[in-house]
Amino acid sequence: MNGFASFLGRKQFILLVLFLLQIQSLGLDINSRPTAEVCATHTISPGPKGDDGEKGDPGEEGTHGKVGPMGPKGIKGERGDIGDQGNIGKTGPIGKKGDKGEKGLLGKHGKKGKAGTVCDCGRYRTFVGQLDISIARLKTSMKFVKNVIAGIRETEEKFYYIVQEEKNYRESLTHCRIRGGMLAMPKDEAANTLIADYVAKSGFFRVFIGVNDLEREGQYVFADNTPLQNYSNWNEGEPSDPSGHEDCVEMLSSGRWNDTECHLTMYFVCEFIKKKK
Ligand SMILES: *[C@@H]1O[C@H](CO)[C@@H](O)[C@H](O)[C@H]1NC(C)=O
Ligand SMILES: *[C@@H]1O[C@H](CO)[C@@H](O)[C@H](O)[C@H]1NC(C)=O
Repeated sequence: MNGFASFLGRKQFILLVLFLLQIQSLGLDINSRPTAEVCATHTISPGPKGDDGEKGDPGEEGTHGKVGPMGPKGIKGERGDIGDQGNIGKTGPIGKKGDKGEKGLLGKHGKKGKAGTVCDCGRYRTFVGQLDISIARLKTSMKFVKNVIAGIRETEEKFYYIVQEEKNYRESLTHCRIRGGMLAMPKDEAANTLIADYVAKSGFFRVFIGVNDLEREGQYVFADNTPLQNYSNWNEGEPSDPSGHEDCVEMLSSGRWNDTECHLTMYFVCEFIKKKK
């Protein structure tokens, strides 16, 4: 009953009790038989029941009832058990790029690789071969330029330089020619002195110069075939060619000339005519 009372509210409960008491005081018995039977003898018995009437139109919507009073505050419930773990949430957006980490330690050496395959591409080999030749030429040119820069002598008309590569007479001749020059031909005292000084100061003892008697034994000429008409500077007792094999000429560091064998190899001096402006 206590629960029912609290459900209705104390006020409604009291009203209900009073209502029941009032019914009792009026002498009405809720459980008694219908009153119609009590008055049966005084009333005319009714006719047969009529047909069911048509269903009436629905009534208008009634007005809202008054707002009831606020109910009592409920009892505070006990704290529930901890619920099951929820599902894993969605993957969040990609974060910003992190700072660069520190450099790691040096790794171990890798294993030795497999042996390479032999290239059988002949045409590349030809090309590479040509490249090698070109590179070799370039190197020679570079060496030449280096030598020229390192030490060069000049007069009004010519440049002279000592090629520090041991070559025989003909190779020396070719070397100077392919560079647009000639094997040095000292055609006067001044030129001879300059070359001799150059050779001596460079610390060399002998160099090929452009003088020979290759055409006619004993008829020495310069490499451009001009005769030694105006100038020569033979060492004492030279040229002396008892065997007939000394057809080329070297200049000693003294500036003196000496006939020698053409196949011998030594450094040599090239000369270049300055281009007139
Ligand atoms: C020799 O010198 C003379 C006069 O200086 C000159 O005319 C002549 O051309 C020179 N000869 C040679 C072969 O150089
Ligand atoms: C001159 O040349 C010959 C032959 O090459 C050589 O035997 C001789 O030592 C040379 N003379 C000098 C002074 O170097």
